[in-house]
Amino acid sequence: MSKQTRYVTTPIYYVNDRPHIGHVYTTTLCDVYARAMRSVGHDVFFLTGTDEHGVKVEQSALEKGMTPQALADQNSAEFQSIMGMFNLTSDAFIRTTSSEHTKQVQTFVAKLLERGDVYLGTFEGWYDEGQEEYHTETSARELEYKSPISGKPLVRATENNYYFKLSAYQGRLEQLFETNPAFVRPSSRRNEVLGRFADGLQDVPISRTNFSWGIPMPSNDEHVIYVWIDALFNYITALGLGDHASDWYKERSEFWPASYHVIGKEILWFHAVIWPAVLMALELPLPNCIYAHSFWISEGKKMSKSLGNFIDLATVESYIEKYNMDAWRYYLVTQGPLGATDADFVATRFQEIYNAHLVNTVGNSTSRVTAMLNKYFDGVVPPEVDGETRVEVTGFDWPTKCEAALLQWTSAMEAFELTKATEEAMGLIRDVDLFINDTAPFTLAKDESKQKELGAILYQCIETLRIAMLLLSPVIPSKTEEFLVAIQADLCIGNIQELARWGGAQPGSSVSKVALFPRVK
Ligand code: MSP
Repeated sequence: MSKQTRYVTTPIYYVNDRPHIGHVYTTTLCDVYARAMRSVGHDVFFLTGTDEHGVKVEQSALEKGMTPQALADQNSAEFQSIMGMFNLTSDAFIRTTSSEHTKQVQTFVAKLLERGDVYLGTFEGWYDEGQEEYHTETSARELEYKSPISGKPLVRATENNYYFKLSAYQGRLEQLFETNPAFVRPSSRRNEVLGRFADGLQDVPISRTNFSWGIPMPSNDEHVIYVWIDALFNYITALGLGDHASDWYKERSEFWPASYHVIGKEILWFHAVIWPAVLMALELPLPNCIYAHSFWISEGKKMSKSLGNFIDLATVESYIEKYNMDAWRYYLVTQGPLGATDADFVATRFQEIYNAHLVNTVGNSTSRVTAMLNKYFDGVVPPEVDGETRVEVTGFDWPTKCEAALLQWTSAMEAFELTKATEEAMGLIRDVDLFINDTAPFTLAKDESKQKELGAILYQCIETLRIAMLLLSPVIPSKTEEFLVAIQADLCIGNIQELARWGGAQPGSSVSKVALFPRVK
């Protein structure tokens, strides 16, 4: 496969909040995709960061007796620290208060003004103060004039503002949704957006005058740029697209357009409608896909600090301590709300999945096979084929099975179907278990004359596990590395298509026994 670029982004997180499972979840999804794409050999850029302007940050800072910048610095550092803590391999961390970002945002907005896509006008509408978002009459009515997030009443607000001419882009947006049905995924989210087109798109205010913590409008510093416009630009300022003389531009501009903007469902409108329209106005290519996942709820209810079911960083850390980092990642990726419905985080379910998938499947199979290799072959990989001996058990044509899994895995990962990709690897491991039960190597071991057959069976087991673990490495990177090191196999460094080909395990190399996932009470 030829080398290509892949660019994946998380939303940039508000600094007036502390990191929690939601932020860790989205960032972990992007991390799995980024690792998988690196292992395929693509050139990957994985961006995350913090959204630091806006009235909420200004107010929180005031309440705490801090300057907004000091609060932003403090909380942004906390978001940055989760990257290291959770083994997340982002390539850059963008902050909207950085001079690189602010300068470019002003350049882009100046361009929009110049082209007439931004103009000065008066606006009246229903405003959600918590979300800093306006609702149309129809949507406000549907929401019973209450914020869908905080439940607080929407307020009628009038503003003299700069507007972005969103209405002028309705036709092109509709065409985009029509010709590229995968622009917004999953498809239920796409339908949600299409439904709102019927209302007719209205121009959106993109400046504010009621506070000052933001990027000043070019040529009118009584206005600051609306935090959402400022924030959306992060995806291209981080690549230097607004400053062609910058190092960022030199090093990163080739990554645009993004492969995936991964977001939560609550910020779909900004990403699926406003953002492409702004890009159209700037004559920039559009991202390939906005992937909007659903939400984690906790123990059957919306997460809330007062209900005591809030999964903050301390709770996340307690899981990692009790189980391990890879178990945490595995649970998030395979049981999370990647699809159209919310997912419930339930402690007992975590334990069940850990036991069933990691202890009893991955852990058991790898320990069983490495133990048998130690017991019957002194920890040395036997040859698969020796003269006549090649074991074919009906239904287990391993080379074909593994090749198919690799192909499926690759296309699922490319398509951001992370659960499906993971399932390909898990399927191979479950098959190894069935194969062991069918061929009963422990019985063959009792018969001297069956040594070669026994060797061939165990070769097929360790080789399939090697391939399966390569495929699992984006999700459980530490445990797969531990395993690959224990069997003296190559780690994946951007060449999975070759490495995961049948025959990679070398007869004669040594194998240590592994115990990857201990049982947890
Ligand atoms: N700053 C804006 C995004 C600007 S992007 C140009 C923002 N920030 S946020 O801090 O509120 O983060 C929102 C994101 O956090 C969601 O879109 C989602 O990725 C993640 N989550 C927050 N709560 C979540 C859950 N309960 N479950 C899953 N993810 C959720 O919005």
